[in-house]
Formats: sequence, C-alpha cells, structure tokens
Amino acid sequence: MNLAVFASGRGSNFSAIVKAIKQNKIKARLRILVCDQPQALVIKRAQIAGVRVVLVKREDFSSRLDFEAAIIQRLENYKIDLIVLAGFMRLLSPDFVKRYRGRIMNIHPSLLPAFKGAWAIRDAFDSGVDSTGVTVHFIDEEVDHGPIILQRKIKIRSKDTLASLERRIHSLEHKLYPQAIKLFISGKIG
Ligand code: GRF
Repeated sequence: MNLAVFASGRGSNFSAIVKAIKQNKIKARLRILVCDQPQALVIKRAQIAGVRVVLVKREDFSSRLDFEAAIIQRLENYKIDLIVLAGFMRLLSPDFVKRYRGRIMNIHPSLLPAFKGAWAIRDAFDSGVDSTGVTVHFIDEEVDHGPIILQRKIKIRSKDTLASLERRIHSLEHKLYPQAIKLFISGKIG
C-alpha cells in the first residue's frame, strides 16, 4: 500500500503518520509528500524522515488543470493507492476528486458538519459549544464534506483556553489519523 501525504504547513499530522509507519502500526509505504509551499515546515520534517518531497507551486502552472496534471503524474509514477490530506490548503478540482474517489482522506478539527472551514477550532471555542472534536472523512466535491470514517468528541473544559483546546485537538488528530489509515489498509472501509 503506497501513501502520499499532501500538506502545506506545519506537518504535525505528517509526522504522526511517519511515526505510526515506523512503529509498524500502519503497514504501508509513505512514498511522497506533495507540498505547495516551499517554506513549509512539513518539508523539513519530510527531509528528516527521508520521505521524497514533491514541491508543486500553483504559480508555476498556467491553470489548475496543469497543476493537477503534474500531481497526477507523480501519483502514477509512485503507484499511490491512498492520498492523505493533512493541512493541504488547496481545493482539489471535481475531476481530481472523481478520479480518486474513495481514495482521498482528509482530517478536520471539528465534528463535521459543524464548523467547516479554516478556523474550525477557534470557531467552536468562540461559539460557546460544550464539545467539539476531530473528523476523518473521504472527500467529495464539497469543502469539508464527504463520507465520515472516524469521528471523536472532545469536551471543552471551563478552564480551556483556545491554545489548550488546540493542543488537545491536535493530539487527538495524531491518534485518529493513523487509525483511519489503518482501517483503509485493512479493507474495512473505502
Ligand atoms: C490540522 O488541524 C488538520 O485538522 C487541518 O489542518 C491542520 C494541519 O496541521 N486540516 P498540521 O500541519 O498537520 O500540523
């Protein structure tokens, strides 16, 4: 089973997946990191982990079609079975989604369908709800939408600050994403 992680930023989920593979909790090969941001911390993490980095900058291509064609070429070269989105800050086209339907996972820091969008943890915190959580799902053509694979709830404590809630959500993500990938590999989903 060959994996590609797509990420644009910090890469803590990328590292959690690398660790789970190293510990043999996930039986797969992480063949490539696809990243669109040359300064992203996730690139350093990949270099340290010895994972090949595919840097694709949107501005180097005249259209999204060409940008995605370059990505697809790499996915085919490396015989990728599962695409794992981990903070990839670009929307994939409906054609791309269709091509890999059921083979693209995303992680989102809320209990979807609640709190879609880039500020999910802050939005949940500010809204005054008493719990939020993490969702892993297959993507479809809508943003932060598609069949749910795993979902876990977290209580927002009265002493939580936004920072403490973010820490708790991220550490939950680092457990949940490897579990979801494992389910996919075992053929129980997808
Ligand atoms: C995570 O909170 C994930 O849920 C969201 O983007 C963030 C990525 O964090 N989709 P990191 O780059 O893995 O640290």
